[in-house]
Amino acid sequence: MRVVAIDGPAGAGKSTIARAVAEALGLEVLNTGAMYRAVTYAVIMAGADSTDNQACTSAASAANIELSERVMLDGLDISDEIRGSLVTKEVSTVSAHPGVREVLVAKQRLWASQHGGAVVEGRDIGTVVFPDALVKVFLTASDAERARRRVIDEASAGREANFAEVEADLARRDAIDSGRSVSPLIEAQDALKLDSTTMTIDQVVETIVSEFLTREALQ
Ligand code: DC
Repeated sequence: MRVVAIDGPAGAGKSTIARAVAEALGLEVLNTGAMYRAVTYAVIMAGADSTDNQACTSAASAANIELSERVMLDGLDISDEIRGSLVTKEVSTVSAHPGVREVLVAKQRLWASQHGGAVVEGRDIGTVVFPDALVKVFLTASDAERARRRVIDEASAGREANFAEVEADLARRDAIDSGRSVSPLIEAQDALKLDSTTMTIDQVVETIVSEFLTREALQ
């Protein structure tokens, strides 16, 4: 399967890079963070406890998530809601549950196989979801740059954001995402490590696309 795995912490630029790489390679993007956010939204709406593995796993199993340009949950467009502070605050807790991950990893593999491969972005794509991806990327950026980008994203979506608060929230999520026992955010051994603080978007995209095409030609 034609898969590019892009992992890295929040705000590293994964979505921007994934879109451009997908366009260059004629693939679609699967944003797995949006799936964890959709389940978190379902948990909140059900009034369930985000620390309850069983309740969160049931919510993940029951959720009918459709991903295209928009994110749909059980037929409702929740694209804006999943970016709000309520979901952002709880998503790392919900996504740390082994049951939730098991359900979503199965959905991710199915989605990619039904779409003839994909550029898949997340935290555990190269290590767990697609360990055989043709190209694995671990995308990073400095903490200050990641916070700066998030503040700009929030402002352009019409949400107020304070730099210090965004920086603290990113650090809090990084710590949970990297410290959890199941599928923590870690670099795959064979990943290309790229730093989007020191490289332009075009340089990052070109590096990934040419690596993919080289490896594909060798297959
Ligand atoms: O990419 P994002 O910031 O929208 O992801 C939201 C959260 O979802 C992130 O803090 C951790 C979780 N996540 C995960 O655990 N595994 C993934 N493959 C993708 C996201």
